Amino acid sequence: MKLPSNFYKPLAIGAPEPYRELPIRLERMIHFFPGHNEKVRARVGEMIPKVDVLLGNLEDAIPADAKEAARQGFIETAKAHDFGETGLWTRVNPLNSPWFLDDVTEIVGAVGDKLDVLMLPKVEGPWDIYFTDQLLAQLEAKHGVKKPILIHAILETAQGVKNVEEIAAASPRMHGMSLGPADLAASRGMKTTRVGGGHPYYGVLEDPKEDGSARAYAQQDLWHYTVAKMVDACLSNNIKPFYGPFGDIQDLDACRQQFRNAFLMGCAGAWSLHPNQIAIAKEVFSPEPDEVIFAKKILDAMPDGSGVAMIDGKMQDDATWKQAKVIYDLAEKVAARDPDLAEAYGIK
Ligand code: GLV
Ligand code: MG
Repeated sequence: MKLPSNFYKPLAIGAPEPYRELPIRLERMIHFFPGHNEKVRARVGEMIPKVDVLLGNLEDAIPADAKEAARQGFIETAKAHDFGETGLWTRVNPLNSPWFLDDVTEIVGAVGDKLDVLMLPKVEGPWDIYFTDQLLAQLEAKHGVKKPILIHAILETAQGVKNVEEIAAASPRMHGMSLGPADLAASRGMKTTRVGGGHPYYGVLEDPKEDGSARAYAQQDLWHYTVAKMVDACLSNNIKPFYGPFGDIQDLDACRQQFRNAFLMGCAGAWSLHPNQIAIAKEVFSPEPDEVIFAKKILDAMPDGSGVAMIDGKMQDDATWKQAKVIYDLAEKVAARDPDLAEAYGIK
C-alpha cells in the first residue's frame, strides 16, 4: 500500500502538484461533441457559454475509421477557443484499445494546459487509474503542463461497480465518475436494449384485490442500486458522481425524471447528448428557488449550525442545517453563473 505521506506527491519529476481539494466548478451537464464532425465543431464557439462542460468524444459512437479525425478535431477545437469558466474534457478510448496511447499522448502534448478532465471509459479497478495517473504525470512533466489533468472514470462494467470504492480512492487526480448504463447493462447481462432510463417490465405489482379489480403496477428504477453505490463511493472520497447518458433523445419527460432522481440522490450533473438535454440538466441540477429560500431560512435561524428551530412547522436541527448548507452552497455556485437564477434565489 502506498504510504499516506506519498499520496499527494507528483508521480513524475516536473509534473504539477496534485490538488488537495477539487477545484470548485459547476458541472451540471457534460455536453458531448464528436470531434470529427466539422458542422458540430463550427458551433462550439456558440455552445461554450451555454454549457458547464464541453467534452470531445473519441470513444463509442465514433466510427473506427474516424478515431484519428476525432482526436485531431478535438485538438483543433481546444486550440481555437477560450473556454472561460466552461470545462474542457475529452473521453478517450479505453486502455485496451489501439487508440488510447495516441489519444492521451497527442492531446496532452498539444493542449495539456487547456484540458481540465480526461474521461476514462470501462474502468475495472484502481489499477486502471494508477496506470493513467502515472502516464499523465509523465506527459505533464514532459510538456510543462502547469495544472494537473483530472481523471473521471465511467462506471460501466460489473467489475468496475464491484471495485467502485477503490476506484474512487485511487488517486488525488480523481475528479469523479459517471454511470455508464449502456455498457453496464451489457456487462451485467441485463436484458435491455436501451441507454439509461427505466424499463416497463421492471416494476412492482400490487397484491391481488379481493374484488378481483385491476392491480396497480409501478415501474421501478433499474439504476437505483448503482447510483446509490456510486454516490457513497464518491462523496466519501470528496469526488463527484454523475448520471451518464440518457439515450432516448425524444423522451424529455423520462430524461428529466431520471436526472432528477440522480440529483436528489447526490449527483452533480449528467451527460447531454443532444442540445435539448442541456436545458433539462440545467433545470434539474440547479436547486429549486423555493428550496433555496427555505434553506436560507434554516441557515439564518441557526447561525452557528447548532440548536433547534421550528420553521414553517418543521423541526430543524444540526442535521437539517447541514442539508440546507449543501443546497445553499450549490445555489451560490449556480447564481455566480446564472443571473436569472441568482435573482430567483435572492443571491446578489
Ligand atoms: C456510456 O458510455 C454507457 O455505456 O452508458
Ligand atoms: Mg460506454
